[in-house]
Amino acid sequence: MYINIPGKVPVPTFRQGACPHLSARCLSPPFITFHHLLLWYGESMIHRVYKDENVPALGFGTYQLEGESCASRVAYAIECGYRHIDTAEAYENEKNVAEGIRASGMDRKELFLVSKVWMDNLEHDALIKACEQSLKRLDTDYLDLYLIHWPSESVPIAESLGAMAKLRERGLIRHAGVSNFTRSLLEEALATGIIPIMTNQYESHPYLSQTDLTGFCRERGVLATAYRPIGKARIFDDPDIRAIAETHNKTPAQVILRWHMQREGVLAIPRSSSETHIRENFDIFDFTLRDEDMDRMYGLNRNKRQVDPSFAPDW
Ligand SMILES: NC(=O)c1ccc[n+]([C@@H]2O[C@H](COP(=O)([O-])OP(=O)(O)OC[C@H]3O[C@@H](n4cnc5c(N)ncnc54)[C@H](OP(=O)(O)O)[C@@H]3O)[C@@H](O)[C@H]2O)c1
Repeated sequence: MYINIPGKVPVPTFRQGACPHLSARCLSPPFITFHHLLLWYGESMIHRVYKDENVPALGFGTYQLEGESCASRVAYAIECGYRHIDTAEAYENEKNVAEGIRASGMDRKELFLVSKVWMDNLEHDALIKACEQSLKRLDTDYLDLYLIHWPSESVPIAESLGAMAKLRERGLIRHAGVSNFTRSLLEEALATGIIPIMTNQYESHPYLSQTDLTGFCRERGVLATAYRPIGKARIFDDPDIRAIAETHNKTPAQVILRWHMQREGVLAIPRSSSETHIRENFDIFDFTLRDEDMDRMYGLNRNKRQVDPSFAPDW
């Protein structure tokens, strides 16, 4: 069984317009089904439990979203029900993300806000300053999670994690994490014992399932955050993905995201600049992939990376 949904709790933000099933016709008595009632009482978000905290497993990625359109898409994502927002100093959109959060009117405490420090700011003082600047741009007093965006060959991991620990002491970040860390780099970070590592964020989709790294994270109590989770829409023509999508009357993006949701300890942060896609990507909590669908999706792995810059570690 792949289903492991600890902390599945209803999100009390349901709006009638969010459900295509809830037309006026659907609301007349003979047409109300159990499915409609479930939706009426609240769409469910799946959560991962980390040290007694519920972390929304589906987040909204913001890479390459810019300006006013970034702000409006962030506000729209929050309106749809997303509560986990992923940005980075390198995306140069933290101000726009803040505008989107403000426009949404959502209480800051309801959000799980993540940012990342870029590679040239990993020395102790630079990292502290980078975080302070991100907070200013994000117009917030704290980050829920602050990540080392890419590992560094020159700055010892203990130095960067030491700075993270200082930030946490000052209440500027609630959790620390890493991104693009291989198993051995993650082992090295954990071995320092300086600060718990909440997550490792890395590329993962059906063509790069990363089951070994994900299993290692799970063993060590580290959440796995899948970035590029739908393979940038480049794998939607896969015949197996299409067949599974047809079976469930869903789109390829939805079955891929649902696959992530049914992987133990995995979070996923799809990005979209389209309101239709943002809503579509959130509409994945009303169906379940069967074990055979999950196996079929895992069978698609071909260790095919899409993100592999020159400064990447030796994967
Ligand atoms: N830590 C890191 O180094 C790292 C690296 C890469 C990404 N990330 C994070 O992960 C997030 C997601 O990764 P990503 O943006 O690279 O890739 P992604 O989420 O896998 O794919 C985004 C692409 O898919 C399209 N798309 C989204 N939903 C769709 C749908 N329902 N139907 C059809 N097309 C759809 C989007 O186009 P439209 O805009 O037209 O919808 C966009 O071109 C990023 O935004 C960022 O926050 C982190």
